[in-house]
Amino acid sequence: MNVAEFCERYAVERKGTNSLKWDALDVRFGDPDLIAAWVADMEFKAPEAVLDALHERIEHGVFGYSYVPDSFYEAFIDWEKRHHGYEVKKEWMRFSTGVVTALYWFVNAFTKLDESVLLLTPVYYPFHNAVKDTGRKLVTCGLVNENGKYHIDFDAFEKSIVDNDVKLFIQCSPHNPVGRVWTEEELTTILSICKKHGVLVVSDEIHQDLVMEGHKHIPSAIINDGEFADRLITVTAPSKTFNLAGLLTSHIIIENEQLRAEFDAYVKTVNQTEVNILGLTAAEAAYRRGQEWLDGLLAVIRYNYEHVKQHIQEKAPEIIISPLEGTYLIWLDMRNVIEEGQTKEFIQDRCRIAVDFGEWFGSEGKGFIRLNMATEPRFVELAVGNILSNLGK
Ligand SMILES: Cc1ncc(COP(=O)(O)O)c(C=O)c1O
Repeated sequence: MNVAEFCERYAVERKGTNSLKWDALDVRFGDPDLIAAWVADMEFKAPEAVLDALHERIEHGVFGYSYVPDSFYEAFIDWEKRHHGYEVKKEWMRFSTGVVTALYWFVNAFTKLDESVLLLTPVYYPFHNAVKDTGRKLVTCGLVNENGKYHIDFDAFEKSIVDNDVKLFIQCSPHNPVGRVWTEEELTTILSICKKHGVLVVSDEIHQDLVMEGHKHIPSAIINDGEFADRLITVTAPSKTFNLAGLLTSHIIIENEQLRAEFDAYVKTVNQTEVNILGLTAAEAAYRRGQEWLDGLLAVIRYNYEHVKQHIQEKAPEIIISPLEGTYLIWLDMRNVIEEGQTKEFIQDRCRIAVDFGEWFGSEGKGFIRLNMATEPRFVELAVGNILSNLGK
């Protein structure tokens, strides 16, 4: 499916549907008439297979408590194996109403008050909140930015662990917002350092399926034939891949039996809710029959990203665009074209765009913006056009 066909089939108006991205602009940005390029969901309907499965479920008319059927496990396990080479076992799996919710649980379950939790920053801001809101000590290690391409300073990473007696590292793989898909070598080094110092790793792999050509997402759990899986929790979801965030369904994978027991004991104390019947129905259908849709979506993301790159490189090459290896969120360094402290005034008030501002992701992000590419090209064209014209280009 090409970009035009995908948009023709799936693009939809979201204003007036209680969409956080569009209908909460006033509340979140103080302005209801912006181009919504912020939060990570899309202006596209879910795959037909998902809608069919949901319709069937709704036709039945009963929404009582539900449990996870074997057919769901089969679909998810098959997807993980085929796409990522990870052979997940049913008994390793747990569920939550969101990846972020699960992060809070892990911090609470596996660390104590005031203990240190490490993040590689800039990183998705709820990671910061999950550490701070739970009364843990937030330790950050800055990624190294070389002209927009980010890498990890492994010595600094190890030093952060040792100096702060870090107990838990929350990894973002692929990485939001800098768009990196970590290589096998990088993951091996990170995981080896964590293993050496007894640091538990939570790997947020929610963007696992959103990877550009030439890159490959490798689940941390299979690095070195599973060498690190024992001290690792993987959390993922169909929500980014298939635009299902509002159905509140995400998956937790814990291989180590002892860790699983500790996790189960913890979630008892917060009375983990049952699974969402519609979320699970949608997820199973997506994993079974969502491939064609996903291929179309990836074409749209690539097209939008190329549009931004081409126009900005041509007319405002001072803006540095981080290479998009994974996720559908692009990271722009605006510091060469916008004066310090003026990013909001420029992007929001003059260009009329609602973005995720870089400083939300950590102090290193000041002067950067994150733009969402999982949308119709007309919104991306408008946003880029507004940026360039307001720069006088
Ligand atoms: C890295 C990462 N983790 C988690 C989430 C949100 O997950 P959930 O909606 O399941 O809490 C996002 C959303 O953008 C994300 O980028």
